Amino acid sequence: MELKIKSEKQYHDYYKKSIENPEKFWGEIANNFTWHKKWNSVVEYDFTIPKIEWFKGAKGNITENCLDRHLETIGKKTAIIWEPNNPKDKAIHLSYNELHKKVSQFANVLKNNGAKKGDRICLYMPMVPELAIAVLACARIGAVHSVVFAGFSSKALASRIDDAKCSILLTADGAFRGSKTIDLKSIADQALEMSSSIETTIVLKRINSDITLTKNQKWWHEEVKNASETCQAEIIDAEDMLFILYTSGSTGKPKGMVHTFAGYMVNTAFTFQNVFQYEKDDVYWCTADIGWITGHSYIVYGPLLQGATTLMFEGIPTFPDGGRFWEVVEKHKVNQFYTAPTAIRALEKFPLELVTKHDLSSLKVLGSVGEPINEEAWHWYDTHIGKGKCPIVDTWWQTETGAMMIASLAGITPQKPTFATLPMIGVQPVLLDENGALIKTNPAEGRLAIQFPWPSIARTIYGNHQRYKETYFSTFKGKYFTGDGALRDENGFYRITGRVDDVVIVSGHNLGTAPIENAIDEHKKIVECAVVGYPHDIKGNALYAYVILYDNVIGDDTLKKEINNLISKQIGPIAKCDKIQFVTGLPKTRSGKIMRRILRKIASNDMENLGDISTLLNPDCVKSIISERL
Ligand code: WTA
Repeated sequence: MELKIKSEKQYHDYYKKSIENPEKFWGEIANNFTWHKKWNSVVEYDFTIPKIEWFKGAKGNITENCLDRHLETIGKKTAIIWEPNNPKDKAIHLSYNELHKKVSQFANVLKNNGAKKGDRICLYMPMVPELAIAVLACARIGAVHSVVFAGFSSKALASRIDDAKCSILLTADGAFRGSKTIDLKSIADQALEMSSSIETTIVLKRINSDITLTKNQKWWHEEVKNASETCQAEIIDAEDMLFILYTSGSTGKPKGMVHTFAGYMVNTAFTFQNVFQYEKDDVYWCTADIGWITGHSYIVYGPLLQGATTLMFEGIPTFPDGGRFWEVVEKHKVNQFYTAPTAIRALEKFPLELVTKHDLSSLKVLGSVGEPINEEAWHWYDTHIGKGKCPIVDTWWQTETGAMMIASLAGITPQKPTFATLPMIGVQPVLLDENGALIKTNPAEGRLAIQFPWPSIARTIYGNHQRYKETYFSTFKGKYFTGDGALRDENGFYRITGRVDDVVIVSGHNLGTAPIENAIDEHKKIVECAVVGYPHDIKGNALYAYVILYDNVIGDDTLKKEINNLISKQIGPIAKCDKIQFVTGLPKTRSGKIMRRILRKIASNDMENLGDISTLLNPDCVKSIISERL
């Protein structure tokens, strides 16, 4: 069966097949790839354990599919275009032949440094071609990559290294970021002091900073010099780990989401091809960083699996000015452009001339990912970037889902501003009310869950399967809970409204409490806070903040004003807190998660139903919060 969907009718036909007989459907799609051994069964799952396996028994390697199988046909085609931070520096074009050699060579570097199948390798790198090369090199030898976004602190890096017990760290002497440089190496060194599993660090020279290497640290270029450019791919099992990628949860510790080889490969290729409608000579650009799932699935794997030309950008959208994205589109004649609403909103603020002075006529498809795209940003994107002629694909998905879950197929299925629209092939979304009852009618609003596995679902949280079960499969029995809320219109189109766990509707506005808390936390006198909603006669709900101050700070009305001013400045006056209570402690679970449920009850004056608080880390603070309730 052809991997490419070419018409709306075919979308519906594929969708139906994928639901009625997923084994047959995905088996036929998977036949489009190179395998050393085919599967014994297409899908086996039990969401209650939970256990999920796709293409069990199959063997192969994702890099053979990204690289080797293209060499004969498109070996000379550009695989990666790299656009540097500084537009005055030269862009790099790597053909599939060249990329194949470089990946093989770096795979040998890893092997020479003792890496073997199953080892975890941490990458803390700038957006340079070597990052993509190293990711693929890990996959080539069956090692597990754990890419940590190069904006994270040394502490965050150390905890991720330790959690996965990584044995090798790949980093650089520094990174360029707009007009600044970031001292990656010293952050990495601090992280190495705080963590214990790294045996070897390999350091890429990027900014030529004046650094020296200590014991067990090696220069990238020296290592590469001695390594051969041929490396047979390690043949791994379908369900062997491909990578770990950390995502933050509502509790403190980040979750190391584990993705495995075969299902991830099949679904990233399939969704990339169909959502963007990539054609043979197109240049595709996703502006994400490889440190995030979007970069993994839609800069590296999806595009390379489909033999695409994928553009990697080292810089930021506002350097040297707010027209850089459009300059790059013009320079490399980009056909598909995939970015985030936050970038669109930031660039909207610049004079339109920064857009209009560039020739954007190469663009065919625009994409959006990461958060709900608001109406205004959608129209600006459509009018000024797409000139009203480019379909916009609003793609809803998550680190955990590995690939796009709800999105339109560019120019094939209908689009609707602010709606992600229809489920991808094989994806079975459902809306549930808070009691877990299925909402069958349209239009509807509820919690978004998925009732059947798709090939690229994360299989576990590294080292903590219990948390995986609790986070995703316990809220609604037998279903994967996304944590998001959604609307479904009369045509069955989905619009993601945002996280349901921490959202309050104030005067009809959806407010996420997390960003409000972040705004409050900016205040120098504040240690920590929690924001919840409580019923309000006129607004429906209002906001109540519980705030912990540093010692010797007086919680007075002036401070309350300052807090609300901060919120106003960062989010808007709508997010101001009607009540601000200064407290000495916040109720927390043993894992450190603030129990907002209890705080919501207190704010709502519903003290009868606090539930069992004895399991809290600090049950005593509840009493004092109640006694000083506003
Ligand atoms: C949100 C990013 C609305 C959502 C790929 C999800 C979106 C979380 C969209 C996952 C979208 C992502 N419309 N909301 N098109 N895309 N989200 O793991 O709340 O970084 O649960 O994955 O981002 O973020 P993550």
